[in-house]
Amino acid sequence: MDIQQKIAQYYDTVLSKTHLRTLLDNDERNKHLVTQFDGILLDYSHEKVDTELIAQFQQLVDNTNLFGTLKDIQSGIKFNSTENRAVLHTALRTPEAQQVIVDGQNVIPDVYQILDRVKTFTESVRSGTFLGYTKKQLLNTVVIGIGGSYLGIEFIYEALRTHHEGQLKSKGRQLRFLANVDPVDTIRALQNLNVEETLFVINSKTFTTAETIMNAKVCRNWILEQYKVLGHENEKEILESHLTAVSTNLAETGKFGINEQRVFGFWDWVGGRYSVTSAIGVLPLSLQFGYDYIAQVLHGAHSIDQHLVSEKQVSKNLPVLLGLLGWYRASIQKYQALALIPYAQCLLRFPAHVQQVHMESNGKTALVYPDKHEQYFKSACPFIFGEPGTNSQHSFFQLIHQGSQVIPCEFIGYAKSQAETGASNPAAVRDQHDELMSNYFAQVDALARGKTKEEVIAEGVKEELQHHKIFPGDRCSLQILFQNEANPYNVGQLLALYEHRVLVEGILWGINPFDQWGVELGKVLAKNVRSVLLKNVDNHNNLDFTGFNANSATKNLINHYRAFQGKQ
Ligand code: F6P
Repeated sequence: MDIQQKIAQYYDTVLSKTHLRTLLDNDERNKHLVTQFDGILLDYSHEKVDTELIAQFQQLVDNTNLFGTLKDIQSGIKFNSTENRAVLHTALRTPEAQQVIVDGQNVIPDVYQILDRVKTFTESVRSGTFLGYTKKQLLNTVVIGIGGSYLGIEFIYEALRTHHEGQLKSKGRQLRFLANVDPVDTIRALQNLNVEETLFVINSKTFTTAETIMNAKVCRNWILEQYKVLGHENEKEILESHLTAVSTNLAETGKFGINEQRVFGFWDWVGGRYSVTSAIGVLPLSLQFGYDYIAQVLHGAHSIDQHLVSEKQVSKNLPVLLGLLGWYRASIQKYQALALIPYAQCLLRFPAHVQQVHMESNGKTALVYPDKHEQYFKSACPFIFGEPGTNSQHSFFQLIHQGSQVIPCEFIGYAKSQAETGASNPAAVRDQHDELMSNYFAQVDALARGKTKEEVIAEGVKEELQHHKIFPGDRCSLQILFQNEANPYNVGQLLALYEHRVLVEGILWGINPFDQWGVELGKVLAKNVRSVLLKNVDNHNNLDFTGFNANSATKNLINHYRAFQGKQ
């Protein structure tokens, strides 16, 4: 019996048969299932685990040489085997004095060359040295990008925009995002912006993503139209003053009309959804908050990168524990979803970011070494969703407490509120924050312990209502608690924690978390549909479907779409 089977057997025979209420009654157990690192506490005592299982986790990690693999990845091996690429987002936050070798070359000087350019450029924009075409200060930034070229940046922006120092650094500035190719998203992104004060950052690793390129063209036209109204028609110079790009495809950014001085590169060893700490995120975030402030995000991420490979005891390694618990819940406990609940409004967009990082990375079943992995433990990336607490309690928590399936939860909270610094009445802020966090603690216990029939009866509930008021409990969750308020350093830590836990899960499942072939099919089909729509712009019945290989149902639907457009 291998260690994975041993874990499965231990779960089936012992842990699945022991209610969390019983596990939690063991004080000795509880005190071992919590650990801290660099201002972050991880409490996993409300998971269906005990010290025996954690010892088995250690054996699993040792037997699969997890730490060896993690170290190799950070040293530049071509771990992304299906695309023959290294996986080195960790190099983006490695200190300048260290070396990371890819294809015989140290990549760290390249990383710092780009960071230095980002620092110089963003400081010149923020100080008013680099101005718009009509010599007005560029106070607004619009980021055009989608997926990994958008979600992580928005998460960090939202996380920091109410941080006291973040507010001071971004005073008078705006950061907006245009991701969806929906024209309504364009209206929202550009609404009430003065073109003379607006800088665009076109974020695309490939610079071929259809949505981003179309949005970039729409914005380019908008810039030129707005300037025309103001009586300016020098297109080349106007665009050079208002367009910047971050991409690995420098040929295409040049063709688009972006001055190469304003293009910030990165490398094929940074996956799109892992690119927030490249210029993709650092450029727009530094425009908004200043480079030195955003550099702290990189420091925080680096702290976790190091912790990942240096803490070899699984019971103390935060990202490894998160990964092991994710693997265990999905492959052993067979739970198919995960709710991510930050008790922090500033983490509003964190679940959306994690959805991409997790599900685009591990939402696949093609194994790298099919012979080495048992079907029983096959990739089982959960469906991830989430909303800030307490809003989520008043939305989907009914199902989480009493629904037919168990949905593990990860709760994230802060001991201090961002709102406290600079508040006119800090005690009132603390009071409100305590109210928020009371819910965080209460939910955890309600999920684990539930409420028994005996307890319901003891409360004097009428017989016909009793079974409605029983909570099964035995629903697992874990708690991440930050010592400080959300700040750039611990936001960087949080980013890296979830990046690495996804990797750990991917390694345990034997898949490659760094490709995304599954997204490609839809892209190709969309192109085909688009050519049909272009061919039939003014045709409202019997569309020409020549060369379009689809079933009659899809063709009918497209026919209806054009027919509706022709009706008054
Ligand atoms: O969704 C597929 C994907 O390739 C993501 O992995 C990536 O983050 C996104 O599209 C955007 O790609 P790009 O940065 O090349 O425009």
